[in-house]
Amino acid sequence: MDMAWQMTQLLLLALTTAVGSTQLRTPRARTDLLNVCMDAKYHKAQPGPEDKLYGQCSPWRKNACCTVDTSQELHKDTSRLYNFNWEHCGTMEPACKRHFIQDNCLYECSPNLGPWIRQVNQSWRKERILNVPLCKEDCERWWEDCRTSYTCKSNWQKGWNWTSGINQCPTGTTCRTFESYFPTPAALCEDLWSHSYKVSNYSRGSGRCIQLWFDSAQGNPNEEVVKFYAAAMGAGATLHGTGALGTGS
Ligand SMILES: *[C@@H]1O[C@H](CO)[C@@H](O)[C@H](O)[C@H]1NC(C)=O
Ligand SMILES: *[C@@H]1O[C@H](CO)[C@@H](O)[C@H](O)[C@H]1NC(C)=O
Ligand SMILES: *[C@@H]1O[C@H](CO)[C@@H](O)[C@H](O)[C@H]1NC(C)=O
Repeated sequence: MDMAWQMTQLLLLALTTAVGSTQLRTPRARTDLLNVCMDAKYHKAQPGPEDKLYGQCSPWRKNACCTVDTSQELHKDTSRLYNFNWEHCGTMEPACKRHFIQDNCLYECSPNLGPWIRQVNQSWRKERILNVPLCKEDCERWWEDCRTSYTCKSNWQKGWNWTSGINQCPTGTTCRTFESYFPTPAALCEDLWSHSYKVSNYSRGSGRCIQLWFDSAQGNPNEEVVKFYAAAMGAGATLHGTGALGTGS
C-alpha cells in the first residue's frame, strides 16, 4: 500500500515535471517576458502609450499592445475584428457583456502576458495565451453576472457554424443559461477560450494573479505579477511551472 502510494507520487512528479518543462519552453528570452505583445491578428509589434484608448480599455493607456481603433471596435456587438457575436442566443445582459469586453481588452491590450504566450499554428495568429492565472474574484464576478444570460456552447473558440460569416449555434445545440453550460466559475473562465485562463487560487491585489479589472490611477497591478512569474521561470525549476504558473498555489 505504502509502496504503491510512493510509486504513484513518483510517477505523478515525473509527469508534472515533464508537462511543466514542455509548457515552459518558449522561444522568448526571459527579459522578453516582461513587456511584450503576442504575435496575433491585431496586436502592435511593441507595447507603447495610447492616450486615447476607448472605454473599458482605457486602463491600458500608458502602455498597450492595442491601437485606439481596436479598443473602440471591441466594444461593439459582432465587431469586425472577429465577426464574433456574443448574442448568439439572444440578448446578453449588459452586466454580463462588460466582462467579455474586459476580457477582449486584456487580450488585445495587455503587455503583461509574456510568461503565458505560446506558439500556435493558426491561420489568423502565430501566438496565443495559455493558462494565464486569473484572479479568482474576477472569474467569480464574471460567472455571477453571466449566469442568467444564454449560450449554446461551452467552448467559444471552435465548433461554430460560420456559413453566414458570423458565428451561429451549430445544429444539435440548444440555447440554455450560462449556468447550465458552465456549472462553476472555473468552467466558464477556463473552457470558454480553450484554457487561455486558469483560475488562480490567489486574490486581486496579491501580486500573484492577473487582474482583468483594475484602476489605472494606482498603476497597472499586472506589471508586478508578470515580474514575479518571469523570475520564477528564470529560476529554471520546472516545478515552478506546474505550481506557481499553473495553479497559482
Ligand atoms: C501549420 O498548418 C499548415 C496548414 O494549416 C500546415 O501546412 C503546416 O505544415 C503546419 N505547420 C506545422 C509546423 O505544423
Ligand atoms: C449552418 O447555418 C446555416 C444557416 O445559416 C444552416 O442552413 C446550416 O444547416 C447550418 N449548418 C450546420 C452544420 O449547422
Ligand atoms: C488556496 O486554496 C486552499 C484551499 O483550496 C487554501 O487552503 C489556501 O490557503 C489557498 N492559498 C492561497 C494563497 O490563497
